[in-house]
Amino acid sequence: MMEMGRKHGVAVAALVGAKEHAVAQAAVGVDILIVAGTEAGGHCGEVSTLVLVPEVVQALQAMGANTPVLAAGGIVTGAQMAAVMAMGAAGAWCGSVWLTTPESETSPVVKAKMLAATSRDTVRSRSRTGKPSRQLRSPWTDAWETSAAPRPLPMPLQSFVSEPALRLVDKLSQAGHPGAAQLATYWVGQGVGLMNTSISAGAVVQQFKQEFLSAAERLADLVADRDAVV
Ligand SMILES: Cc1cc2nc3c(=O)[nH]c(=O)nc-3n(C[C@H](O)[C@H](O)[C@H](O)COP(=O)(O)O)c2cc1C
Repeated sequence: MMEMGRKHGVAVAALVGAKEHAVAQAAVGVDILIVAGTEAGGHCGEVSTLVLVPEVVQALQAMGANTPVLAAGGIVTGAQMAAVMAMGAAGAWCGSVWLTTPESETSPVVKAKMLAATSRDTVRSRSRTGKPSRQLRSPWTDAWETSAAPRPLPMPLQSFVSEPALRLVDKLSQAGHPGAAQLATYWVGQGVGLMNTSISAGAVVQQFKQEFLSAAERLADLVADRDAVV
């Protein structure tokens, strides 16, 4: 992939969920590292964004690599973006925050569940793809967590089990089947707890900008106060 990217002038980005993975990717020369904490929707590791980002930034410094880091996992506000940039990230990479926008392909039933969900309503489960991925908790994911449940198959086989069933669940839930509505789930991160209204993708970007500036001003004021005291 690196060779193809270089040949065609396309930047290569690698998404990692552990420091060791980041170091290995930087060693082969990826152009951008996306460092995703466990809060993230979809496939993720076990370390929180707050710890993983500085861990990777420090490891890159130690190996003399200047690969830009985009922080990911749980980032749904501009203040969080400012926080990860304060920790050394060059920017933020978001997935979940788009899922409740009107532009998103998310099924209306799942979208409503996401808008109502708290940050504790997601689970990191192997039940969808065979590898741990974070998704909305539902009786579907709960059933896979019970001791009576079979072990999920290794990737990619588990998707052959889950996807046809979950597609049917989506279809039935949209047709008004109450049981299917309960089972319905989709990948989303812990940031879902902060996603409480459906606003357009453009409005999300504008909100990010405003919140980022407010956070930066708050920090600047703190520094100014300290300078005034010193
Ligand atoms: C619905 C959904 C699908 C995703 N699919 C992929 C994917 O195919 N490949 C990938 O590298 N990451 C995928 N991700 C992970 C995102 O690229 C991103 O790292 C993650 O969403 C960031 O965390 P956040 O959801 O808390 O914003 C997906 C995430 C979501 C929510």
